[in-house]
Amino acid sequence: MTTWGFIGSGNIGSTVARLAVAAGHDVVMSNSRGPETLTDLVSELGPRARAASTEEAATAGDVVVVTIPLNARDQVPAAPLAGKVVLDTMNYYPERDGEISELDAETTTTSELLQAHLPHSHVVKVFNNIHFGHLAELGRPSDAADRSALAIAGDDEAAKAAATALLDAIGYDTYDLGALAEGWRTQRDTSAYGQIYAADPADWSKGPQQVTPATITEKAAAAKRYRDM
Ligand SMILES: NC(=O)c1ccc[n+]([C@@H]2O[C@H](COP(=O)([O-])OP(=O)(O)OC[C@H]3O[C@@H](n4cnc5c(N)ncnc54)[C@H](OP(=O)(O)O)[C@@H]3O)[C@@H](O)[C@H]2O)c1
Repeated sequence: MTTWGFIGSGNIGSTVARLAVAAGHDVVMSNSRGPETLTDLVSELGPRARAASTEEAATAGDVVVVTIPLNARDQVPAAPLAGKVVLDTMNYYPERDGEISELDAETTTTSELLQAHLPHSHVVKVFNNIHFGHLAELGRPSDAADRSALAIAGDDEAAKAAATALLDAIGYDTYDLGALAEGWRTQRDTSAYGQIYAADPADWSKGPQQVTPATITEKAAAAKRYRDM
């Protein structure tokens, strides 16, 4: 059994936590406002869940999900995450996050920024290119014909293997994009971004569709840099 720590308990954090609890894992939730604001979520998640400070969630997690606005990344507590696998869901939205010059220049990627903030952790990019509603619905047992895959990227092979096992436990296959620097292929507005999981990209109310590794291969290969769009 694994304990998942969550830095961020919003749309994506709470969705991943629900999947982890359904798989029989424990979760420790945190946000910016303090554990007392997470009472309803923890009560919905049940006895495998508790709320804590970000520091405590980082300490308690065998694996820790960082799922906050990108502009808050430097507030993630680094010391308790040393040596741990950190799953990064963050995307760059300048209107929300402010302009980040290295990302505008495409000299780095969002997950490499988090990795730079957490030099002693093993960051794996995942969950960034799927809408939380689709993530909630597409999980399947490992032998299901309609199981979907999620893209990962990371610089540490053992961390990616750990992430693959965790994704398998919560209902997903994995597609490995390569190093963290390759994570741009699923960033906002690329062909491999969220719409690939939408049954009708023009009408998301029609729900999700299965995404196989072959689809991610094709869409990630076709992804364009912002400067080339
Ligand atoms: N929404 C999606 O479908 C989706 C899909 C893939 C990736 N993403 C990306 O994943 C990240 C999270 O998205 P979301 O939709 O889940 O956001 P959200 O619903 O707005 O939730 C953000 C969470 O981060 C917490 N937070 C903010 N600043 C924090 C800090 N300094 N320390 C600790 N916690 C902090 C918030 O807590 P408070 O409420 O207490 O401030 C909240 O729990 C974003 O980078 C987003 O771009 C989103």
